[in-house]
Amino acid sequence: MPVLKGPSVLLRPLEHRDYSRVFPWYNAPDIVAPFDRFSVDSFDGFVHEVESAASDPTSLAPRFVVERRKEGDVVGVLGYYRAHPVLEFLDIWYVLGDPEARGHGLGREAVGLLVDHLFGSTEVERIGATCDVQNEASYRLLERLGFRWEGTMRSALFHHGGWHDVRFYGVTRAEWAARAPPI
Ligand SMILES: CC(C)(COP(=O)(O)OP(=O)(O)OC[C@H]1O[C@@H](n2cnc3c(N)ncnc32)[C@H](O)[C@@H]1OP(=O)(O)O)[C@@H](O)C(=O)NCCC(=O)NCCS
Repeated sequence: MPVLKGPSVLLRPLEHRDYSRVFPWYNAPDIVAPFDRFSVDSFDGFVHEVESAASDPTSLAPRFVVERRKEGDVVGVLGYYRAHPVLEFLDIWYVLGDPEARGHGLGREAVGLLVDHLFGSTEVERIGATCDVQNEASYRLLERLGFRWEGTMRSALFHHGGWHDVRFYGVTRAEWAARAPPI
């Protein structure tokens, strides 16, 4: 897996030294799941998932860390997975586990690098993402990158004691190639 470099962040595959930084985010509902379901994992289970993800296209394990280039610290994780047993697209997901890193455009830059990489290294024609209708930071990030809001699934996700509607987004290879870079 390559290292993907942008102006402010780079994406690189997880290494052993990252596990103790990233794992606590997984067990912190306010970090990883303000708008998503949450389940506690063991450290060993987490490591096993990360290390077996390469051979499992459906794995939800993180596949890259987001590292700030200037500071050299890991502030987030991203992943992608085959989301449907028949339809041939990849869904992406993204979390900036360090709340102080949010709101500075790093999420958008990181997701842009990931989408570039996936269109460059696979043959998929569509990359998708889903987010809770209340997760404004997530859907604004997607829209700014050129993803289209394709619809809303009603009562698709149970979290925080209730059923939530979920927006689904997608961008095609042709749209991505033709997009104007975000300002
Ligand atoms: C979603 C997330 C990755 C966004 O990354 P980020 O670096 O904070 O976002 P950016 O600074 O790149 O901003 C992206 C857009 O969201 C907007 N935004 C950022 N934080 C916001 C907030 N708290 N509320 C509303 N909009 C927000 C920005 O203004 C920007 O929109 P614009 O381009 O129209 O101005 C980050 O907030 C996060 O990790 N959240 C928790 C985990 C999560 O929800 N992941 C997504 C699951 S679907």
